[in-house]
Amino acid sequence: MTVRKIALTGIKSSGSPHIGNYLGAIKPALELTKDHEARYFIADHHALTTVRDKKLMKEQIYDLAATWLAAGLNPDEVIFYRQSDIPEVFELTWILSCLTPKGLLNRAHSYKDSVDKNAERGKDADEGINCGLYYYPILMAADILAFNTNVVPVGQDQKQHIEITRDIAQAFNLAYGDTLTIPEALIREEVKTIPGNDGRKMSKSYNNVIPLYAPRKTLQKSISQIVTDSKGVDEPKDPDNCNLFTIYSHFATPKEVEDKREKYLAGGLGYGDLKKELFELIDSIVTDGREQYDAYMANRERIDWILEEGAEKARSIAGPLLQKVRHAVGVQ
Ligand code: TRP
Repeated sequence: MTVRKIALTGIKSSGSPHIGNYLGAIKPALELTKDHEARYFIADHHALTTVRDKKLMKEQIYDLAATWLAAGLNPDEVIFYRQSDIPEVFELTWILSCLTPKGLLNRAHSYKDSVDKNAERGKDADEGINCGLYYYPILMAADILAFNTNVVPVGQDQKQHIEITRDIAQAFNLAYGDTLTIPEALIREEVKTIPGNDGRKMSKSYNNVIPLYAPRKTLQKSISQIVTDSKGVDEPKDPDNCNLFTIYSHFATPKEVEDKREKYLAGGLGYGDLKKELFELIDSIVTDGREQYDAYMANRERIDWILEEGAEKARSIAGPLLQKVRHAVGVQ
């Protein structure tokens, strides 16, 4: 029997998932479940570093859970839970923080970026920065290390966090003997290349996202807003510098993409027509998911129940691991 590797990733609950998330994170993570033991969770305490609205916080947790379930996450195969349901993670966060050099956190990108921004604006270095943001990498390390994780599928922007996790785990093992599994990052390169409807990277913070399971009309409107140049139908167009074409390529088959590339170069295909086609294409891909998403959102008890079951399974792994950790450090 071959032992399947353990894959774990956290999904931060800030903002409704869009097609960039779907292609860059959700779809590859679901593919990984075929040959990995998968543990996926909603990182609500990470979201707490920025979200200040209680209603929104609750809503986004349901939104994320419904989205992943609708996209095909099978809770019988994947342990799917909420970070806040696992007290072991928070206990481990503290223990790990006692082994983490403060300088390591000073160098973490998100903290450093905030400090640099303050400097640019002539403010005090730490103004407006909460300790949660500073501790973010340790909480993330605990998320990962509490579950004997081997691989962590993440976007490029999270690479440093996995390196910090490895550093912390190695420091722990050096101090107390082999206890924690050293994880590896599995970086999804594509995440970077999906442009939003204005051509910049698709991101909530740029307000340029194409929503995933929004109503048909909303999807259509968003696609109609994809920015192109003003070339007329008959003019030849440049497929390599056109975000409409790039987005289309992420959804269409290689043959369709090749066909459209030729039509772009030759002229005769209007942007409006390709938008229509792209809309129908994305709509056909999301129709089933949208229906399921709506059904989950209308039955939140079912979501609660799934996440509670997941939390129970997750705690049956994190519990014994924490017991080992407590013994290793000598608090028990
Ligand atoms: N920080 C990650 C992000 O913003 C989310 C996250 C939290 C995570 N804990 C994790 C990812 C553990 C992987 C493993 O995307």
